[in-house]
Amino acid sequence: RRKIIIDCDPGHDDAVAIMLAARNPKLELLGITTVRGNQTLEKVTRNALNICQYLNIDVPVCKGLADAIVRPSLPTEERVHGDSGLDGPIFPPLTKELDSRHAVDFIIETVLNSDDNVTLVPTGPLSNIAMAIKREPRILEKIDEIVLMGGSYQHGNVTPAAEFNIMADAEAAYVVFHCGRPVVMMGLDLTRQALCYPEIVERMSHVKTTGGKLFVDLMKFFCMTQKRTFGWEGGPLHDPTTIAYLIDPTCMEVKEMYTEIDISGGCSHGRTNCDVFHLSDKPMNSKVAMKLDVEKFWDIVEDNLKRYDSL
Ligand code: BDR
Ligand code: CA
Repeated sequence: RRKIIIDCDPGHDDAVAIMLAARNPKLELLGITTVRGNQTLEKVTRNALNICQYLNIDVPVCKGLADAIVRPSLPTEERVHGDSGLDGPIFPPLTKELDSRHAVDFIIETVLNSDDNVTLVPTGPLSNIAMAIKREPRILEKIDEIVLMGGSYQHGNVTPAAEFNIMADAEAAYVVFHCGRPVVMMGLDLTRQALCYPEIVERMSHVKTTGGKLFVDLMKFFCMTQKRTFGWEGGPLHDPTTIAYLIDPTCMEVKEMYTEIDISGGCSHGRTNCDVFHLSDKPMNSKVAMKLDVEKFWDIVEDNLKRYDSL
């Protein structure tokens, strides 16, 4: 089983990533760490705890950085994820407790103490991961891969150049992409192929488990805000593509290339400059996801929602 840590800012799509990972027999979820992104650190951490409690996912949840490392944080994303950061489902009173360790300490400790290598799966801004690498570089040799959602080789979603997770802490992203360990990048080019249309919500409503119910409650809200805010019929399920790749890498095409993060502070700040055509001779540091097998992806989602307790 591949050992993973999910570092996230839930977030509807982060929540689905957690759901796909936690019960899959190929993966061992060692813990969940949180970072400010879609909402404040307090809110996304509460959301992570609620998801775990609701689905009986018994792993530590550790709170991380409340702000980007260098620059002011981006505004939170109420328009997409609502006031709580995870609007839609009604959760029972929260009793699951936060782990007392800071996310950065948890990542360092867990990676160093693990018998096997660990895969990091960031689905939010990269502040915690960059801090962990800088604070304890010895973790690098025990990191298999960093499979992240962020960036784009085409256009951005917060500026014409930059995607939210990278823009939110571009200096942290710079540290991660240039850390010497392989990065697998699920950029918007790929994740905007994972569109959750009402037909998908209807399909998953036949999965009569706590996972199926949570998915439907989340996606009804998410699809509504996508339509209201952007006029789109299907909401892009960005973050779960990371876990789908880990479960079955044949569900997408990836291409190896050199990627550099723009931290110039100019109009392309936060852009992932992906050398798709291998124009430079710099060593390849990333596998960039290009094309999703959409049918396989939704089969993976359905299979893994079925693994939860029956309603
Ligand atoms: C990313 O930003 C967040 O809104 C999503 O959770 C995803 O991680 C997409 O740009
Ligand atoms: Ca996210």
